[in-house]
Amino acid sequence: MQVRRCAVVFIEPRERLDFDLARLVSGSTGVEMVLEWIALAAHLDDEVLLDVDEMQALGRVSPETWVAFDSMGDEAYLQVLRNLLDKGLLITDAGTHADVRRRDEDVRASHWRGISATLHRHTRWQGVDTLEAEQRFGRESDRPFLDRLGAPETPVRERVEPGRRVALGKPADSGLEALIRQRVTCRNWDISRPLPAEDFATTLYRTFGARATSDEPGITVMKRAVPSAGGLHPTEAYLLVQNVEGVQPGLYHYHPIDHALEPLGQVAAEDSQALALRLVAGQRHFMKAHVVVVLASRFRRTFWKYRNHAKAYRAVILDAGHLSQTLYLAAAERGLAAFITAAVNERDIEEIFGLDPMLEGVLAVSGFGWRGELVDEIEFDPLGSVWSNGGGMKKVV
Ligand SMILES: Cc1cc2nc3c(=O)[nH]c(=O)nc-3n(C[C@H](O)[C@H](O)[C@H](O)COP(=O)(O)O)c2cc1C
Repeated sequence: MQVRRCAVVFIEPRERLDFDLARLVSGSTGVEMVLEWIALAAHLDDEVLLDVDEMQALGRVSPETWVAFDSMGDEAYLQVLRNLLDKGLLITDAGTHADVRRRDEDVRASHWRGISATLHRHTRWQGVDTLEAEQRFGRESDRPFLDRLGAPETPVRERVEPGRRVALGKPADSGLEALIRQRVTCRNWDISRPLPAEDFATTLYRTFGARATSDEPGITVMKRAVPSAGGLHPTEAYLLVQNVEGVQPGLYHYHPIDHALEPLGQVAAEDSQALALRLVAGQRHFMKAHVVVVLASRFRRTFWKYRNHAKAYRAVILDAGHLSQTLYLAAAERGLAAFITAAVNERDIEEIFGLDPMLEGVLAVSGFGWRGELVDEIEFDPLGSVWSNGGGMKKVV
């Protein structure tokens, strides 16, 4: 059996509070600080607890050169290495560890910068219910929010006295200004009205559709509404269609060059909102959107050019922001409303759409549809563009 270390692993020395009843009974507070070594590997979903021997042994194994396991040391040392094999941090050519090896090879083949890969892998959620977390936060204390957190940073960092600021002229109204003013994150949906097929197709096209493609020999590049690092446009739209005229409810992938839907599976009407709720980590105010859009980036598309690059992951995340804002404006132009959230269950979404996190990673969930007539959930509309009485209860018609 040949062995090497996984491609990317970071070790965090972490301190945690440990409570032991026996210590309490014997007269102490029962609370003790425990120091731990935690390994965060780019090919493993879970954090791995190491003892000092394992941590040191891991550092001695090459991530590149395969070495015969039996030649690596005495029996006591080999036992430490076996522990690391069981924990998935050492890779072997043995069939029993084939799944771990495949995941490690996916990381190697993708040209990830190590620290970015670790950040991406270990900030994904599964089964998180943010409503439950919010309620827990509320139960922990009855002190008002501001009291507990203190004042936030000021909205602007002012670098000079007001008298030294160079005043600028405000622009005249324009079509773009009107759209910008209409853009309000939507948390109230009108599910009594299906979304017309034309609004659906237009919003998708405006945001994700390719206006043109250019072919250098072997390299096809899309022209889209948004800029993208290297022109590579790694971010694609996966859809949960809930309520659109003429489109069977279900899961789809949007093909930006053909401007077409690729069906990935039907979803029964009675299961759809529960599925949406899983995607958006329990945020009930988003689960009724007519269309839920997962923004997922094919990292290898960008990392093909920006290999092992310090800025590449950041550039991919920026893509999602550009697409989200364009979706908001495209929806507003059709009289529709949109949302975006980063509080999403990436691991559930990967399962649902069949995505590998290191190859096609979920960055955010967006969506659009008809806004409801009444405010149940708060929306931020100080301009009164959508709701009468500056954020009142009735929609402006
Ligand atoms: C990256 C990002 C993440 C967001 N996540 C959430 C979220 O988890 N839940 C939510 O209700 N709104 C979310 N929002 C929407 C913001 O709350 C919203 O933009 C903000 O309150 C300002 O309101 P406006 O978009 O109507 O101007 C998010 C927005 C962005 C850009």
